[in-house]
Amino acid sequence: MVDLSIQVFGVDFQNPVLLASGTCGYGEEYADIIPVDELGGIVTKAVTPEPRAGNPPTRVSETPGGMINAIGLANVGLARFRREKLPWLRDNLSKARVLVNVAGWSVNDFVKVVAGLDDADGFLGYEVNVSCPNVEGGTMFGTDELSLAQLVRALRAITERPLVVKLTPNVADIGVFADICEENGADGLSTINTFPGMVIDIEARRPVIGNVTGGISGPAIRPMGVFATWKVASRVKLPVIGIGGICNARDAMEYMLAGASLVQIGTAMFVDPYTAPETIKGLHDICERQGVAQLSELVGALEA
Ligand SMILES: Cc1cc2nc3c(=O)[nH]c(=O)nc-3n(C[C@H](O)[C@H](O)[C@H](O)COP(=O)(O)O)c2cc1C
Repeated sequence: MVDLSIQVFGVDFQNPVLLASGTCGYGEEYADIIPVDELGGIVTKAVTPEPRAGNPPTRVSETPGGMINAIGLANVGLARFRREKLPWLRDNLSKARVLVNVAGWSVNDFVKVVAGLDDADGFLGYEVNVSCPNVEGGTMFGTDELSLAQLVRALRAITERPLVVKLTPNVADIGVFADICEENGADGLSTINTFPGMVIDIEARRPVIGNVTGGISGPAIRPMGVFATWKVASRVKLPVIGIGGICNARDAMEYMLAGASLVQIGTAMFVDPYTAPETIKGLHDICERQGVAQLSELVGALEA
């Protein structure tokens, strides 16, 4: 028997496999396709204080080994999320853990969302998105040390729930930003959000993406995600959630060896929605083959 469970943020995750923000809606969207409650958890689409229509089309396009997206944080907004989406999560997920992805353009935006949700049921904690490359100012907090410190401190002051900061890889040294989150009271870090990118239609001589630029995700970014995870996990004591290009259990295992306690799967779910359940089964099989009784023992077990 292999035990896939892992204790993170003071609670048990039944396994380390979560769905990444923006790729699984609010969980409900996958309910008829996969057993969502068997996952380690899900991270909701970003929630902003007000509803957002998002960017003009085209919003997504395939790229080598992945995709580019510029959704533009389209979401139902705080009030509707609380009224219509959280109850489904509360009533339907008893084992899978839920993190609410929070976005904004000022400290006050983030504070509004966290303060507006904190006394509600149906979720464990927050993933603070300071790393969206697809809206003006979306990476402002994730690339400016003082702003990030101020934001994390402000959120720490108003919630006791797990506060996970999702970092951008688009900085010279991601370790510096990890330090700032740790020093200011974050409980965990997610690495990584998408890389800024661009695709051009040479016949039209126009950008393929309506927003002109977008974020690159999928297998193409996996080695960079593993690197960022390793760098951050070696630097801080906080638990790290590994993200970027995970398509199967081997990929998830790379992140865990690099130091991730949990992982998230995004783009691969668009290719095959069974990717997450199969990754969970695959982690079990790898552990069995390697004679590992407790998957959590492999977190950071890389010998470098
Ligand atoms: C269509 C799409 C929408 C996304 N929306 C969000 C979002 O709202 N908030 C966020 O933090 N990350 C968002 N992301 C980034 C993913 O959560 C993830 O960090 C990134 O895609 C890398 O993982 P992957 O290669 O497994 O997709 C989005 C990604 C995609 C492809």
